[in-house]
Amino acid sequence: MAKAKKIFVCSECGSESAKWQGQCPDCKAWNSFKEFSLGNSRQATTAQRAGFAGSLSSVTLLEDVDISDTPRFSSGISEFDRVLGGGFVPGSAVLIGGNPGAGKSTLLLQTLCHTAQNMPALYVSGEESLQQIAARAHRLGLPTGQLKMLAETSVEQVIAIAQQEKPGVIVIDSIQVMYTDTAEAAPGGVAQVRESAAHLTRFAKQTNTVLLIVGHVTKDNSLAGPMTLSHIIDTQLMLSNTDDSRFRIMRATKNRFGQVNELGLFAMTEKGLREVLNPSAIFLSRTEHPTPGSIINVLWEGTRPLLVEIQALVVESQLGNPRRVTVGLEQNRLAMLLAVLTRHGGIFTSDQDVFVNVVGGVRVSETSADLASILAIVSSLRDSIIDQHIIAFGEVGLSGEIRPVAYGQERIYEAAKHGFKKAIVPKANAPKKAIDGMEVVGISKLAEALEAI
Ligand code: TYD
Ligand code: MG
Repeated sequence: MAKAKKIFVCSECGSESAKWQGQCPDCKAWNSFKEFSLGNSRQATTAQRAGFAGSLSSVTLLEDVDISDTPRFSSGISEFDRVLGGGFVPGSAVLIGGNPGAGKSTLLLQTLCHTAQNMPALYVSGEESLQQIAARAHRLGLPTGQLKMLAETSVEQVIAIAQQEKPGVIVIDSIQVMYTDTAEAAPGGVAQVRESAAHLTRFAKQTNTVLLIVGHVTKDNSLAGPMTLSHIIDTQLMLSNTDDSRFRIMRATKNRFGQVNELGLFAMTEKGLREVLNPSAIFLSRTEHPTPGSIINVLWEGTRPLLVEIQALVVESQLGNPRRVTVGLEQNRLAMLLAVLTRHGGIFTSDQDVFVNVVGGVRVSETSADLASILAIVSSLRDSIIDQHIIAFGEVGLSGEIRPVAYGQERIYEAAKHGFKKAIVPKANAPKKAIDGMEVVGISKLAEALEAI
């Protein structure tokens, strides 16, 4: 047999190299390269993926491929299903990342206790003792009758037991404590995490089992060996804290079986994680004393609206090169908006530091926040308050034109539902029929927006 091939993997960013290096060329971390024996497992996965495993495979006409929907089943929690793209896909591997304390174990325990009512389910815990988990399940009032538990950190043992028990869903909590005999490195290292995940994923695919892997994130919000794992698994979800400590956001960062723009919202309560079914206004905290530099924007997240506050702070710069800082928005977008504001609004910020923040820890990945950002900036610069009952959304183009965004009317209806009285929106998004209690100002140029406030 050929000698097992060695590679070196950076434990910080997952970058690979054929030889050991003192400093990672990608993330610049020192002494982060760990030796990792590829063994034959990787070749096997590559071969299987290419369809060469075992006996000769057969070809199918594209026309004959069954395109009826991927069979899925519900996790029992609709917010979880939503982010998954409509529930679990048998034979898929899902990685659930998050900070310690985000609620990963709680969410999966709740999910599995319910799933176990319909099919065999196995919860493998390498972190908490079975007593701890049982006490939690009891306190949360979960049905504990059917769920099988296993305290184990050896991948080979887990697979052997899963072969006997034949669960439809397996939870591995967490991948960082698992080890496999085929990797020589210590548990927790990139090599072990990666090999363990690869073995478990292969098992899940072969047996059509749903595999849910918990992964803790490091300080910089990356999973241990992120590059390595994201190639192995099908879906990568992140459960993160928000500014409001009660709420948790779940997002997909990769999904072979669905969209990645869907957002799931949960509240951590004394009865565990509860889904927030009508979450559009959870990030709105109205203060009694409104301040300049703030306006509400209606985002569209996946399939629903979300009202968020955009805040700006504009202060005279002490630096030759004034600062442009964004939290929750793309920084280049801010630089562009400021240029448009100068050129088409006649408002100069070249001697000002500009900070823009999306309240609540929400990340904006669409262009609808352009208009609100500009209005918040102007409001802060002029030290004049924007009426708290105004919302704004719309994309701002380079020539100062206000462009429509998708789901314009739905956004306005949602704002009206939450008591807003005036909407400054792109002309093309303004509804033809009047909305009760809502004044809609349709605009097509930046100058009109500045007038409207
Ligand atoms: P946990 O699921 O253990 O987080 P993770 O597995 O992601 O590390 O959640 C732990 C946190 O959640 C902890 O701070 C306590 C809190 N919590 C509640 O507030 N209510 C509850 O019912 C439970 C089970 C946990
Ligand atoms: Mg946990």
